[in-house]
Amino acid sequence: MSDAGERGKVYLVGSGPGDPEYLTVKARRLLREADVVLHDKLPGPNIIALIPEHARVDVGKRAHGERTPQSAINLAMVEHAREGKTVVRLKGGDPTVFARGGEEMTYLAEHGIPFEIVPGMTSAIAGPGVAGIPITHRDYASSVTIVTGHEDPTKDESAVDWETLAAAGGTIVVLMGVTRLPQYTQALIDAGMDPETPVAMVERATWPDQQVATGTLETIVEARDEVGITPPALTIIGGVAGIREDVRNSLEGNDD
Ligand SMILES: C[S@@+](CC[C@H](N)C(=O)[O-])C[C@H]1O[C@@H](n2cnc3c(N)ncnc32)[C@H](O)[C@@H]1O
Repeated sequence: MSDAGERGKVYLVGSGPGDPEYLTVKARRLLREADVVLHDKLPGPNIIALIPEHARVDVGKRAHGERTPQSAINLAMVEHAREGKTVVRLKGGDPTVFARGGEEMTYLAEHGIPFEIVPGMTSAIAGPGVAGIPITHRDYASSVTIVTGHEDPTKDESAVDWETLAAAGGTIVVLMGVTRLPQYTQALIDAGMDPETPVAMVERATWPDQQVATGTLETIVEARDEVGITPPALTIIGGVAGIREDVRNSLEGNDD
């Protein structure tokens, strides 16, 4: 079905962190009504299961170890829309946070395709929250920086200025930062941050197999390995990460 006549329309939809109860009402409706839903694995199995089978297209699939190129996803959105279809491009969390939503918006605009952004709860805020970590707190942090821990191996220099972040004093939330945890925790210590600064990692926040590891800048690599944290996971650095241990006994719901 299409609500945009012959031209079709693309919805860039955020699925939230993974538990279907955190889908917005609008996202849930669009998943039911769309002609095509282009998704990868990040929304999680419980949300992907809500998409009618005839509409499901996995664009995160790896052929010979490669991800579907972004150019192919862009093309698929435009082609389906030009056939007059209602297209959902479903993304984990929010479609504008480390999700190529910006690139996709530009591409759609360049090709004259009407689109709409349907925000989702970003894991960068929801993930710490469900683990008992508020990303701001009057006593610990009045600012938050969300950064990528994923670095281009072909680049010599880090794209993230860890030295400036160490000096800034707010909470740091690192996405895509499981593998490079040793590098950036050391960079923060080298830049003068207290090695005792609390750090937490939250894997698969709100999924049934959510896991959390806690420690300090000095100990978190060991804690990551002990718990067996694997992607997708967040790293939360700063005083707020220590709050989890204070509230844990009363924390229910998604907590592991
Ligand atoms: C490509 S980014 C997409 C971020 C997403 N757009 C958002 O707003 O949450 C993928 C990274 O998001 C984080 N992430 C997404 N969902 C998560 C979840 N349920 N639990 C923990 N981390 C998650 C992980 O750091 C993962 O490597």
